[in-house]
Amino acid sequence: MTKTNTKTNTETSIVWSDDFLIGIEELDYEHRRLVDDINKLHQQLLENDDADRVSGTLGSIHARMQAHFALEEHVMQAHEYPHYREHKEEHDRLLDDYTEHMSRFAADPASEDSRALEATLRQWTIEHILGSDKKMSQMITDDKQIHPNLLNRMKTMLDID
Ligand SMILES: [Fe+2]
Repeated sequence: MTKTNTKTNTETSIVWSDDFLIGIEELDYEHRRLVDDINKLHQQLLENDDADRVSGTLGSIHARMQAHFALEEHVMQAHEYPHYREHKEEHDRLLDDYTEHMSRFAADPASEDSRALEATLRQWTIEHILGSDKKMSQMITDDKQIHPNLLNRMKTMLDID
């Protein structure tokens, strides 16, 4: 398999920086892992990796997004976040589009433009974290601290110390 050079990959992968931090540790942790997975997909598509492996990565991104969005929505509801509805709609729309793509890819990998999907997903993730998620965390953390019980529940859900 031909390896692509690192410079090109770096230019088009998401380069993680502290700008992505929204200040809620558990959500930052999840965002970092989501970005890692999207970069993995990006790399696999660049290398024309086989469809089963790409399909596996698409599936793990899907599972991660579902769990992560549920967690974020849980945090927003616990804090009675006033923009909950529109934020959740952004999550739902992306998940719907992504799920449709995954189904089509599973049926016929060659028919799907996965690089276009990955580019859209990459753009969506950057804009969503820097826009909607930051706005949400600023309102929540300005208003009051994350409740310790909620933090513990989040850590249990994420299986981290
Ligand atoms: Fe979000």
